[in-house]
Amino acid sequence: MVTAGPTHEKIDPVRYIGNYSSGKMGFAIAEELASQGAKVILVTGPVALKSGNENILRVDVVSAVEMNTQCHRYFRDCNGAIMVAAVADFAPVLVDNQKIKRTSENYLLELRPNPDIAESLGKIKRKDQILVGFALETNNEENNAFMKLQKKNLDFIVLNSLSDSGSGFQHDTNRIKILDRSGAITTFGLKQKTEVSVDIVNKLIEIENSISGLP
Ligand code: C5P
Repeated sequence: MVTAGPTHEKIDPVRYIGNYSSGKMGFAIAEELASQGAKVILVTGPVALKSGNENILRVDVVSAVEMNTQCHRYFRDCNGAIMVAAVADFAPVLVDNQKIKRTSENYLLELRPNPDIAESLGKIKRKDQILVGFALETNNEENNAFMKLQKKNLDFIVLNSLSDSGSGFQHDTNRIKILDRSGAITTFGLKQKTEVSVDIVNKLIEIENSISGLP
């Protein structure tokens, strides 16, 4: 299973809270897995991308709560999950069913935290399942990513660099580091997201083989 894209958190019938995630990284990973013969469940937030491979079952969602429901629906039947989606951290407590009117007063929007999907899957993950996360850090990158790996019970975490131009949100290229549970860090150069996805899938295969005892 792969999650991709942003989530949109409704404010009223015409407005939402979102983020700039394009879904490109998640879709590239889903395509790479599918092209290697895997059956992929791609749980995606609202994106402008198409998925052509017949090995990909696309599940469209809008909000974090919907993404959480769909991930929990499919996870137990999967060999693992790669959590690429940029899930909104908060959602409005109340969704207005009328368009909110403009006033001259300040408008306060109360937000509640969204479920952490990766963390909840980490709690139910079986020994034969692999869970992979992404991290986008602005400071103390490697330490923060490693703490996230432990907190969410991930097998490895992909650290996106924000300090590189051409890397991360909306770009076609990305520069990543992979941190695993042993503390090993592998650094990769700036590459197309399609090539980055090959590096990530290779790491996945390495872990899968070590779980199943293959060389
Ligand atoms: O804690 P942070 O948002 O930095 O963690 C990022 C990782 O956790 C990503 O793999 C992201 O897809 C996943 N995540 C999630 N549900 C959330 C927040 C993050 O699955 N609500």
